Amino acid sequence: MEVVGVVEPGLSSRLRQRIETQFKERWEKEWGRKFVTHGVAPGPNAVRLDGNDYLSVTGHADIVQAQLDALRANREYIVQSGVFQLDGSPTSRFEAALADHVGKQGALLCQSGYTANLGLIQVIADAETPVYLDSLAHMSLWEGVRAANAPAHAFRHNDPAHLERMIQRHGPGLVIVDSVYSTTGALCPLEQVVEVAEAHDCMILVDESHSLGTHGPEGRGLCAELGLTHRVHFITASLAKAFAGRAGFFTMPDELRPYLMCHSYPSIFSSCLLPHEIAGLAATLEVVKRSDEARAQLRRNTQRLRQAFSDCGFPIHHGSEQIISLEAGAEADTLALRDKLEQRGVFGAVFCAPATSRNRAMVRLTLNATLTDAEMSHVEGVAREVAPLVKPWEWAIARRQRGRAE
Ligand SMILES: Cc1ncc(COP(=O)(O)O)c(C=O)c1O
Repeated sequence: MEVVGVVEPGLSSRLRQRIETQFKERWEKEWGRKFVTHGVAPGPNAVRLDGNDYLSVTGHADIVQAQLDALRANREYIVQSGVFQLDGSPTSRFEAALADHVGKQGALLCQSGYTANLGLIQVIADAETPVYLDSLAHMSLWEGVRAANAPAHAFRHNDPAHLERMIQRHGPGLVIVDSVYSTTGALCPLEQVVEVAEAHDCMILVDESHSLGTHGPEGRGLCAELGLTHRVHFITASLAKAFAGRAGFFTMPDELRPYLMCHSYPSIFSSCLLPHEIAGLAATLEVVKRSDEARAQLRRNTQRLRQAFSDCGFPIHHGSEQIISLEAGAEADTLALRDKLEQRGVFGAVFCAPATSRNRAMVRLTLNATLTDAEMSHVEGVAREVAPLVKPWEWAIARRQRGRAE
């Protein structure tokens, strides 16, 4: 919004030129000068499928109480960088609890999942370390590789054989995958990826942002569920998904901690979390551990709504988990789909470039454990109503999926 009367100095001609060539047409013609992720405000009866609080822990009485107690108790807290947190502090106790939860020696708490990935990869890779990333790996992982100045090699999504060929060509290094892919809800074939990494003497990093809390015994994650934790070098996760907080973490072996703390920039050059955030997250961990019923319900909701969208002809078979992507492809088609869903009270999130590749825009629906039967019936009805209007069987991804099945 332009504030009337406030004068700003002119932008450089170089920057103006970039905006002109890279963005103007998209902004003015394709989006009609409205930001692409902004639809209409959801009404009171809207079904919200645009959050990542998979177990619906937000507002849990234990978490709120822990935050309130910490706010009252810490009136003189000094905000510093994470590296100043002493052993035995609430932060380091929570780090130990997180590490224990996922079955690793140690963990470092970060301001977000993004900085966790950036701060870890920046240290464990360098210009001499080829890094192999699944082509759908989260942007923060790519940015970590960029910060490390390491050569990045994308391998075909969920294709361990292609990964192996890439490693044979470029040599041992670091393999990076997501456990559950954030744009499609596809599960990583982790066992095969780990086997390839081991066979070629590579380290492996698994981003468990969308499986921590939702997968594995007590929500310990996909590595734990598959019994692979001891074969994976590093686990990272955002705590803004099933933990519904504002933080992230990565694990590391004890031998790496001092080196890491001296070289991982987000922990050195940015401030740590606040005491009430740590207290809330520590309480959340306990809630998450006890949430077996919510995990089972999330799985049932996932199966039910995946089946419903599939029955209506939506090509969603590239994923299997609690994230459902309706990949209309072109941005204009995606916005039209979003509007049709929103008009009927179903709210997902538009994902387009740079979160997806240019012609693979989508409306992403994320499910949670407390969707009611009535809400899911409503979503099923909307899927039936919208399908003939948007003809998802004609989308490019539907053609690709048919091609693969034949
Ligand atoms: C797989 C994955 N990793 C990392 C992140 C970054 O997490 P955060 O939002 O905590 O920065 C996200 C969130 O978008 C994600 O989906």
